[in-house]
Amino acid sequence: MCGIVGAIAQRPVTEILLEGLRRLEYRGYDSAGVAVLSAENAIQRTRALGKVAALSEKLAAEPIIGMTGIAHTRWATHGEPAERNAHPHMSKDRVAIVHNGIIENHEALRQELIAEGFVFESETDTEVIAHLIEHNRAKGLGLEDAVRATVDHLGGAYALAVVSNDEPDTLIVARHGSPLVLGLGLGENFIGSDVQALLPVTSRFIYLENGDFALVKRDSITIFDANNEQVEREVKESTAGMCSASLGEYRHFMHKEIFEQPQSVQLTLEGRLGNDEFIPCIIGDNVQETLARVEEIQIIACGTSYHAGLIAKYWLEEMTDLPCNVEVASEYRYRRTPKRNKVLFLTLSQSGETADTLAALDKVQTEKSMLATMTICNVAESSLIRESDFSLMTIAGPEIGVASTKAFTTQLVALQIFIGLLLQAKGNHPEKVKYLVNHLKQLPLLLEQVLDKDAAIETMSEAFIEKHNALFLGRGAQYPVAMEGALKLKEISYIHAEAYPAGELKHGPLALVDNEMPIIAVAPNTPLLEKLKSNLEEVRSRGGVLYIFADEEVSIREDEHIHTITIPKVPEILAPIVYTIPLQLLSYYTAVLKGTDVDKPRNLAKSVTVE
Ligand code: G6P
Repeated sequence: MCGIVGAIAQRPVTEILLEGLRRLEYRGYDSAGVAVLSAENAIQRTRALGKVAALSEKLAAEPIIGMTGIAHTRWATHGEPAERNAHPHMSKDRVAIVHNGIIENHEALRQELIAEGFVFESETDTEVIAHLIEHNRAKGLGLEDAVRATVDHLGGAYALAVVSNDEPDTLIVARHGSPLVLGLGLGENFIGSDVQALLPVTSRFIYLENGDFALVKRDSITIFDANNEQVEREVKESTAGMCSASLGEYRHFMHKEIFEQPQSVQLTLEGRLGNDEFIPCIIGDNVQETLARVEEIQIIACGTSYHAGLIAKYWLEEMTDLPCNVEVASEYRYRRTPKRNKVLFLTLSQSGETADTLAALDKVQTEKSMLATMTICNVAESSLIRESDFSLMTIAGPEIGVASTKAFTTQLVALQIFIGLLLQAKGNHPEKVKYLVNHLKQLPLLLEQVLDKDAAIETMSEAFIEKHNALFLGRGAQYPVAMEGALKLKEISYIHAEAYPAGELKHGPLALVDNEMPIIAVAPNTPLLEKLKSNLEEVRSRGGVLYIFADEEVSIREDEHIHTITIPKVPEILAPIVYTIPLQLLSYYTAVLKGTDVDKPRNLAKSVTVE
């Protein structure tokens, strides 16, 4: 959460910083700001409430020029979104800082600094860092030592960048928990929360490790590790390429990304399928031996990725007979969990930077409590990929819309590939492996077909714009699909939505049903279909209005309160992937009709790097 970018160059940096912020806006967009050192070494700061575009406009009207600067786009944690709370934060016009993360002991530090005469302008936890650096400088420390002494006092997680008019030729950065990369140029260097921010200016990166502290100058970078030893970190050439950030014919990135799904699924399958088997080396060396020893799977994720995990549990237990547990990372990381040395610990993540998921991985690695760790992730250079024993990439390409769509369906595809590889490693069910391979090959075409329902779903969405609540129903692996549908509707249309396994209706939610409550059901032709139909009758007979996505070969009773969109026949194993698409479209069109900011819904961020 929050995006940091910085530059120390031989040319004006403001435009580089702004472009970096635009590319980081997925991390937060409550407010943004820059601080640039002038030719006379004065700190010039401009901040604006709202998106980076608002900051751009301000800077166009009143440019600030300089060759060293830092910038930030904020997702508010401490203090409401407001210009006074926007970063960079300053102390006595001598120090400016940007920060990502949360300083847990900020309240105590604030009181100490107030007692020392410092005046606070914001409600943020960040401002204490600026004042503490200045306080340490006033005691006679040089800038480097003042920052070191400051970070020694900070509790919590952070990535930090500091400029000062004391040392105009140095950017100081520190990483503890939140990600930070250094970008290497010729006679100029950069910093960023991730490589996307810096791709227009470099493709060579150093990923700082936890506890690292670095001095970034125009022609040198010096890094110290957590023990204060000077270290060399590997320089990596990024394969991320330029992010395809153009909308093309689409009005929103979410719409574009929904329609990219046949292609991203195809790319995720490419090179992974043989004739009747999966290709194992894609996950890492010796993976077969490890998978052969796995007796249980523990899946950990957050948000939409968690829903992918819940679907995988149905598939894994059905296909492999191995028990599978799924838990949200924010709970798992703080729980006492038993040591289980036959368990594969599997994280799912679009970004690979979600703080809670990384902390859960760190916990099992520290406790050495699992057989091995693996991640399914969409970002090659991410922390999760770097820190897990094995990884399987989803090839969704950059996902810009905050509400996840193609990252989710490609995770489901990767999970099926993983199940196939697990079966192969165990060596006892070649027919199941063949079944998975052959069905996966049909998937891109089936996704094309379901996307043809676009216009019908757009019409259906008109019924939702005045609604305040909605219930989503599914059974079996379609229950987590319903959960994901409800999450999408909440995220972008702000309609309160809940999902239930349809069999649970009569244990409570039926009390909510009246003609004001739309009920959305996913009804593929599976062995649970007849059970689901009975549950839908329970709703209908109590006046509920039904919106059903149903297999074209299934007969659903029609009346003026039952609205059905038929979906092409799909094999049961693919149904959760295919039936996700109409729910994405329904949320999308409802949000468009309501006029919300579809790609950047209020209060949310794409990459959640604070806990
Ligand atoms: C945020 C995003 C969600 C995402 C979740 C987990 O809440 O808005 O779309 O599902 O984080 O992110 P991850 O990158 O770990 O999948």
